[in-house]
Amino acid sequence: MTITSFFKQLVGVGAPSAFVPDEYWEQRHRSYHDSHEAVGHIGLSAEANATQYATKRELILDAVGRYVSTDETPTLLDAGCGIGLLTRHFVDAGFSVVGADFCEIAIERAKAEGGAVEFVVSPLSTLDLDRRFDVVVVVDVLLHVVNEEEWRRTLTALTRHLAPGGVFVILDWFEEDADGLGEHVCPRGADRYQRVLHELNFEVVEHTRFDLEHEGATKDLMVVRRCGS
Ligand SMILES: C[S@@+](CC[C@H](N)C(=O)[O-])C[C@H]1O[C@@H](n2cnc3c(N)ncnc32)[C@H](O)[C@@H]1O
Repeated sequence: MTITSFFKQLVGVGAPSAFVPDEYWEQRHRSYHDSHEAVGHIGLSAEANATQYATKRELILDAVGRYVSTDETPTLLDAGCGIGLLTRHFVDAGFSVVGADFCEIAIERAKAEGGAVEFVVSPLSTLDLDRRFDVVVVVDVLLHVVNEEEWRRTLTALTRHLAPGGVFVILDWFEEDADGLGEHVCPRGADRYQRVLHELNFEVVEHTRFDLEHEGATKDLMVVRRCGS
C-alpha cells in the first residue's frame, strides 16, 4: 500500500466537510481515545505502529545526542505531543520534558500515563511558555498544519522556544507534490522549510530521509540550529 492510499484512509475518520483542524483532532482523539490510532498510522496494527514509534524515537534521540549532553538534565519541548507516546521516552532518556498539544483530550490521556512531564494545552502557533528549551521536537505535526500562515507562525513560535545553542528537531514528511491526501494533510518540501527557517535566522544542520517499516514510504528528520551556534 502506498503512503497516498494510507493517508486517504485517514480521511475516513470523520473529518468535517469545512475542515477545522482542532475539530478534526478532537474528533479523532475522541474516536480513538485509548489507541495508537489517535496519533499513529490508522491503517497499521498496534504492533506495526509500535515498531514505527521505536524507529522514530531512536532516530530523534540519536540526532539530539550529537548536540546535547544529558549529563545535566537538559530541557525538551515535545510540540504536538498527542497522547504522549514519545514524551515519556524523552523523560526516560534523561530530559526534563514539557508536552504541548491543542487537544485537551490528548493531553488528558498523556497525563494519565503518569511520569514527570508538565503538559500544556495550546495551539503551537500561539505557544508562549516564557521559557526556552535545549531541545524542541515536533513529530508528525507540521504536515497537519494545513494553513500556510499558521505553519509559518508555528515555526516562528517553536524556534522562539529554543535556548541558545539548542536544537530544533522536525520529524515529518517533506513532500511538495502530495495532492488528494485529505484535508488534514499538507506536507511541504525540505526547501520550503529551509527557506522559512533561514528567514528566522536558523539553519539546517542535518537532514535524513528514512524508510518506515510496514509503510513503504519515507519520512524526514531535520535538525535545525540558530545560525552561527
Ligand atoms: C499525528 S499526531 C502526532 C502526535 C505525537 N507527536 C506523536 O508522534 O505521537 C499530531 C498531533 O498534533 C496535534 N496538533 C495538530 N495540529 C496542531 C496545532 N496546530 N497545534 C497544536 N497541536 C496540534 C494533534 O492534536 C495531534 O495530537
